[in-house]
Amino acid sequence: MTPLRIAIPKGRLQTPSLALLEEAGLPIPGTEDLASRALRVNRAGFEWIFVRDADVPVYIQHGAADIGIAGADQLEEQRADVHQPFDLPFGQCRLMLIGKEPGAGPVAGRRSTIATKYPQLAKSRLGSRASLAEIVTLQGSVELALVLGLADYIVDLVETGSTIRANRLEPLELLMNICPRVAVNRESFRFKRTAVREVLDRLQTVLASPKQRVEIGGAR
Ligand code: PRP
Repeated sequence: MTPLRIAIPKGRLQTPSLALLEEAGLPIPGTEDLASRALRVNRAGFEWIFVRDADVPVYIQHGAADIGIAGADQLEEQRADVHQPFDLPFGQCRLMLIGKEPGAGPVAGRRSTIATKYPQLAKSRLGSRASLAEIVTLQGSVELALVLGLADYIVDLVETGSTIRANRLEPLELLMNICPRVAVNRESFRFKRTAVREVLDRLQTVLASPKQRVEIGGAR
């Protein structure tokens, strides 16, 4: 039988994602596999791939992975056409409008520059207030755009708040609460239903246990 391919986001979601999958009894890659530069690992009927968080929705939508864990930020930004059965209780953060000083943020009919990794979400969440804004798309360290005056505002993720505090920036408005989600390729959900369902059921069983919720929620 073809192995189920599961996409794991590299970066801050990797460790808690693997902890959850292990808790669910899935044969996750071992420490040697994780330490190597291997991009895919086969284990007991599963193939694990490790990709950038922004790429997880792409792999799943195009069927290059059956299941994955992806941030709601990326799924919504990319309007990913994937099945999203449930959210996960770790890695919660907020998509925020951030400025250099306290204030109201961009005003409809007034020009401003907004830097972000999420141009679609920034436009949709700010609505008419961003109608005359120039949206500058960056790939990372977005806060620097504010610090250096490249932008009047940024739309970015805030998790602990350390980055905005360290750079003396002001959170102005919560635009969206973000958490990771399980994402499934639509074809896999239909045609590999038994195998996919088993993974989803195992995850939901773990998530339903109050003890596990605390442990996984605390793993970062
Ligand atoms: C994210 C986000 C902020 C930071 C917020 O960046 O874009 O810069 O984390 O986290 P905090 O509130 O805990 O400080 P990430 O670390 O993913 O790297 P990037 O800047 O390269 O996108």
